[in-house]
Amino acid sequence: MEPLNQKKILVTGGTGYIGSHTTVELIEAGFDPVIVDNLYNSDAQVVDNIQKITGVRPLLEVFDLCDSVKLGKFILKHKDIQAVIHFAAYKAVGESVRNPIAYYRNNLLSLINLLDVMKRYEIPNLVFSSSCTVYGQPEKLPVTEDTPLQPATSPYGNTKQIGESIIRDTTCSDKNLKAISLRYFNPIGAHPSALIGELPRGIPENLVPYLTQTGYGIREELKVFGNDYNTPDGSCIRDYLHVVDLAKAHVVSIKRLFEKKNKSDFEVFNLGTGHGVSVLEAIRSFERVSGIKLKYKITGRRPGDIEKIWADPGYANTELGWKTLSSLDQAMKTAWDWEKMIRSNNL
Ligand code: UD1
Repeated sequence: MEPLNQKKILVTGGTGYIGSHTTVELIEAGFDPVIVDNLYNSDAQVVDNIQKITGVRPLLEVFDLCDSVKLGKFILKHKDIQAVIHFAAYKAVGESVRNPIAYYRNNLLSLINLLDVMKRYEIPNLVFSSSCTVYGQPEKLPVTEDTPLQPATSPYGNTKQIGESIIRDTTCSDKNLKAISLRYFNPIGAHPSALIGELPRGIPENLVPYLTQTGYGIREELKVFGNDYNTPDGSCIRDYLHVVDLAKAHVVSIKRLFEKKNKSDFEVFNLGTGHGVSVLEAIRSFERVSGIKLKYKITGRRPGDIEKIWADPGYANTELGWKTLSSLDQAMKTAWDWEKMIRSNNL
């Protein structure tokens, strides 16, 4: 078999949160990732830090995947790309409600342009960044891959559902194309080196960056969105997994496609720990690892929030041979180390 280091992988959104961690894992597994990113929600300096971690500097080309001409020219220069991991997308739920057209245009047009060039240049392997949001509030927990999808509650969620449909339909029509859609639960934390992590612009919408910023004193207090849910402590439950564990799932998915171990042309995997954690438990985890008493208050529910959801990762465990290794506290500790690192460097 051809050595892995000759396999060039296009990583779209490779300077973003999950993309950068995946690029590190790809390099460490012997692949040759090339990044395309428009730097809308990230920074070119991330490539320097990927190089510090791995000793390898991945190529970064800055352009928007919605620009099909630029994408075509890029692929012509890199005809040896053998697989694509597609992260590049907008991901803020609230913003998508306020500006749905931007979400549909960006998330779907970039995907369509990619599939177009993949077909034209016969690139046969795709890993797609999806979300547990496609399940809405499931009737039965934990969530397996057979759990019925619910109508999306936001344009962002809808772009993930429509994106999966577009890919599934394309694999049906194009016998050359194989795809794996990874449905992430809630990724948190940062690389243990504290050189890469999540860099939310402005006020964070997600729990863990808000929590660590509050711990650092940048936000006055964390608002816990509701304590009257039908859960043991009344706060919402999610399945928080360490981003490095999540990144490794992309590497095993790419290997599965290269080794032709896929059972169908379009496969779906849930990626989570299998454990539900409430907002109040997440706060206690932060307090344990940081030694800081967090300032928080209970406020009203956040509109559109799901009460409780966690994964059944059994299919990914057996089929991909992948499982999460980090505990909640370990992941939270890396999130806290990262917060301290970015503040001390004024990032
Ligand atoms: C949300 C989206 C999900 C998307 C993800 C992207 C929904 C229902 N889900 O996930 O589709 O993939 O963002 O980042 O919108 N919380 C607080 N206080 C805060 C922030 C959050 O109490 O300041 C609570 C929320 O109510 C929730 C939990 O923390 O119970 C996690 O919230 P968040 O990090 O925003 O993730 P999701 O809502 O699960």
